[in-house]
Amino acid sequence: MHFQEILFKKRDRQELTSEEIRFFVDQYTKGDIPDYQVSALLMAIYLNGLTIDETVRLTDAMLHSGIVVDLANVEGIKVDKHSTGGVGDKTSLIIAPICAALGVPVPMISGRGLGHTGGTLDKLESIPGFNVKLSLERYRQQVKELNCCLIGQTKEIAPADKKMYALRDVTCTVENKSLISASIMSKKLAEGIDALVLDVKTGSGAFMKSQQQAEELARLMISIGRKMGKEVTALITDMNQPLGSYVGNSLEVIESVNLLKGSSLPEQYDLLELSVLLASHMVVLGGKSEDLESAGQQVQKVIDDGSAFEKLKKIVEKQGGDPSSLDDYSKLPTATEKYQVKAARKGFVAKLDALLVGKSAVFLGAGRLVLDSKLDPGVGIVIRKKVGDEVNRGDLMMEVYYNKQDQLKKALPYLNEALVLSENPVSPLTLVKNTFD
Ligand code: URA
Repeated sequence: MHFQEILFKKRDRQELTSEEIRFFVDQYTKGDIPDYQVSALLMAIYLNGLTIDETVRLTDAMLHSGIVVDLANVEGIKVDKHSTGGVGDKTSLIIAPICAALGVPVPMISGRGLGHTGGTLDKLESIPGFNVKLSLERYRQQVKELNCCLIGQTKEIAPADKKMYALRDVTCTVENKSLISASIMSKKLAEGIDALVLDVKTGSGAFMKSQQQAEELARLMISIGRKMGKEVTALITDMNQPLGSYVGNSLEVIESVNLLKGSSLPEQYDLLELSVLLASHMVVLGGKSEDLESAGQQVQKVIDDGSAFEKLKKIVEKQGGDPSSLDDYSKLPTATEKYQVKAARKGFVAKLDALLVGKSAVFLGAGRLVLDSKLDPGVGIVIRKKVGDEVNRGDLMMEVYYNKQDQLKKALPYLNEALVLSENPVSPLTLVKNTFD
């Protein structure tokens, strides 16, 4: 077989066989096909699409480009959650310990921030000492011992995705349903899970801008999961404004911990609602509850009695982090300077654009402008008013935590553009737009 035959076929909209897809994925992973030829194939896929069968074949080939972790020695139904990426989305930090405290094993392999979106690994690494680079053996042991381990993609997990993702990022071929589905599902299926909850974001801060696109992506990932024998539930959720009210790595750890300690502010209603809902779906899939309502009560109980927070502390300690930093936030990285954004006039918040807030956070140093950018874990934005809130002139809208004046200067125009006030009342955004299972 020659790679050019595969390129010809996809350029001419023909269906690729399992053998052809496996050949391309295996040879590319080994380094036997150059990036420029794979870039051409990715663009042909981006423009001409893949059928559902081709997408399943691609996922399977990417999954088997590395190890599929065997968690048979861990009792229980192993469940994970994956979000397609957003701004202020720290639900993983909240729901993993909640589910683990309820006896649902959560083997979670997460990613770093991508573009304007935040990443669980970057947030976890803002906890002093926290190690996300554990071996798969330690990962397995910790899931058995604590019901949860939070690590990053190792070189053994879906290596084809690691290479292809980096190439897609620089060839403008990220936003394709089949490529996103194969990328996400190959990594998740390699973790050793039995079931998965997907949080598919839609709106300005999401890769899928329209609800229809998000629903198509969700359906595709569900059918891939089913074909691989896994239970998958997908929620379509809003990403037009940031989730919760803290954006930035250590700030998001603080917001998650506050929520696990049972103290959340009115502007964090959406984070609480989504965290409880996602965790409840995981508890149901994990066989610990019959229905969402009773699962929700169980979730609330482990928040109220402190056991979910205690579980998080144990996970942090086991992974080399300083658990006392979760009680004494002065031990977490913090920015030295603070800037207040105030309302220029009376009105109602009509928009708080997630994409622009995310970009602003990147310019402050919370995300990467280039591949090897060094993050500043203490910087970020605290949002005090959300869409629908009524405000008076001079009200505090956002607080910007920063360390460098030139970074603040670059970040502020995005924040100012993100916030739109209206003279007329505005309804709050609908958080959960649809559920598929
Ligand atoms: N997240 C992933 O892991 N892969 C994609 O392609 C997009 C988001």
